[in-house]
Amino acid sequence: MSGDTTMFHGLSGKTRSDGPASAEIERRGGAGVRETKDTAMLFPEDAVRFWGEQAEALVSWSEGWSSVLSGEKEMSSVRWFDGAKLNVAYNCIDRHLARGRKNKAALIWQGDCNDDVRVFTYQMLHMEVSRFANVLKKYGVKKGDRVVIYLPMIPELPIAMLACARIGATHSVVFAGFSAVSLRQRIEDCGARLVITADHVVRGGKVLPLKTHIDQALSTLSQVLNCIVVKRGDGDVSMQEGRDLWYHREINCIDILPECEPEEMAADDPLFILYTSGSTGKPKGVVHCCGGYLVYTLYSCQYVFALHEDDTYWCTADIGWITGHTCTVYGPLGLGATTLMFEGIPSYPGPDRFWQIVEKYGVSIFYTAPTVIRALMRYGNEPAEIHDLSSLRILGSVGAPLNTDAWKWYNTVIGQELLPIMDTWWQTETGGIMISSLPELGGGQGCAGGKPLPGVDAVILDENGQEASVGVTGSLVIRHPWPGMLTGLFGDGREYLVNYYQKFPGMFFTGDSGCRNANGCLAITGRLDDVITISGHRIGTAEVESALVSHTSVAEAAVVAMPHPVKGQAIYAYVSVKDDVGQDDQLIEELKSHVRKQIGAIATPDVIQVAGGLPKTRSGKIMRRVLRKIAAKEYNDFGDTSALADPSIISDLIACRKNEA
Ligand code: PRX
Repeated sequence: MSGDTTMFHGLSGKTRSDGPASAEIERRGGAGVRETKDTAMLFPEDAVRFWGEQAEALVSWSEGWSSVLSGEKEMSSVRWFDGAKLNVAYNCIDRHLARGRKNKAALIWQGDCNDDVRVFTYQMLHMEVSRFANVLKKYGVKKGDRVVIYLPMIPELPIAMLACARIGATHSVVFAGFSAVSLRQRIEDCGARLVITADHVVRGGKVLPLKTHIDQALSTLSQVLNCIVVKRGDGDVSMQEGRDLWYHREINCIDILPECEPEEMAADDPLFILYTSGSTGKPKGVVHCCGGYLVYTLYSCQYVFALHEDDTYWCTADIGWITGHTCTVYGPLGLGATTLMFEGIPSYPGPDRFWQIVEKYGVSIFYTAPTVIRALMRYGNEPAEIHDLSSLRILGSVGAPLNTDAWKWYNTVIGQELLPIMDTWWQTETGGIMISSLPELGGGQGCAGGKPLPGVDAVILDENGQEASVGVTGSLVIRHPWPGMLTGLFGDGREYLVNYYQKFPGMFFTGDSGCRNANGCLAITGRLDDVITISGHRIGTAEVESALVSHTSVAEAAVVAMPHPVKGQAIYAYVSVKDDVGQDDQLIEELKSHVRKQIGAIATPDVIQVAGGLPKTRSGKIMRRVLRKIAAKEYNDFGDTSALADPSIISDLIACRKNEA
């Protein structure tokens, strides 16, 4: 299918009468041409040419590549844009200054309180990022060094990321909801010598401590030489002399110059490490490199949302996750748009907060997660109806399957049955959006699924590695390389190969299951491994299990997902306690708080069942499908349980589940 590389599927023919005219929408179309044809292309020939064209059109390079794709015999070790040089911060800031966007809003920050607003034009962002880059240099950060950023949703978070990108340091953002233990694990794993944090977090009208987590994490970690602290709250925090520095003092220091030459980076130099959960107890440090990641981020944002420089784009995800990296920071800024960042929560001070923000800033693209839609639905239609949402032109969803009820509400109440809803599938590992619904094909209706973006060879395979028939569930696999693919797991080459390239040799295994419908759309149904998606956040069951067994009362733990009306999935933990431990409500609460301390609030089990024993096979393997069914209150059809050492455990577990609320 050569030459047919610029089709655009993102927009339905319908537009709001008072919204942008359809001709205007056509003009904004990312790749320019709108088609609904199949997006298949010949791999790898067309794809290589295609990605070369995208890279040229979307990214400014200081040196060109000698080959678009090399080493493609092994998908696990391909290199994108070999020989090319660029700087990601230059692409997200500097080049816009020369394109007449100097005084255009690059970043609008809406604080938790409505009056708390900060706006950075591209020029202001340039100055702040350059100054902070110089601060990092002053404290010895060099190209290739890792910097951990543990910040809440305040402007200094993207500023710190871009400052790292400017000097070639590799950032690793740790979601500010993670505990001191999780933070320590990540700092140690990536070997950071400098961390950036804030004194407090302000959210939902509350001021919570954050610096204390860093202090705790660093108390047994001598590798960190400096900690830069952004002042967000009012209260005092302890500052360790010689190690801790205030951001505002450093950046305003007289010797800090407002100019910082961007470091020239090779396309395959790392840009960031982002830790995510897998099926082992240890989080995986997914590595993304400058060239491929930026090309794919700009491509996928532009393609799916037709994201254009006059858009105000609001992705509601925390920047601590890949969605925020790609869709709040690098995507919109790379494309010269205005990105909106919100510090607070959807329900504070009232349930109309999101819609009030959409109206206040004239948001044109709104991208959120199904769990948020489901939570907002619960407040009824009024919170949305009292606001003027006519600036919206595209709605998006990511992170978990978008169920039909949530889709319908989003479509009628927010979209007024006029706006396309892009249900997008992707992962930390993919860098950008890989599959998106096609409103024109009647897709985007709940879990109807979507199509791979042009250049993405995503298929559903059966256990034998053959393409599964229509309607048959199988594994979601990417058969050919794409520029946004992870380039490795930090410090763990073996785990990288085993995780992604072993199940279907030579192809990337996503860990998800799905099926193809008659339209060729792929519906993604859930994880095949022991990973749970809670409110769109990935948590490995093994991580929660090891947190539980680290409590002195717990002998054994098995964690599974249970369906949840708002979060999609929630954590159900079965624990057996040591002989001398009594079972009471206090123990359950203590275990929940223990998990919060070990991992963070998002990993708190909704239910902990203290069980007399776990259903194990004679070889000692826990039969998780039995546990999943009981957690979901499905008490029949357990399948073949003849391998269980003690089948009577099942009836005990059921009796206990029935007694729970
Ligand atoms: O299971 C899929 C689910 O979220 C996982 C990726 O999680 P993470 O790396 O944290 O990235 C989140 C968002 C980019 C996937 O393996 N997932 C993501 N989007 C969808 C989805 N499941 C169903 N439908 C989606 N649209």
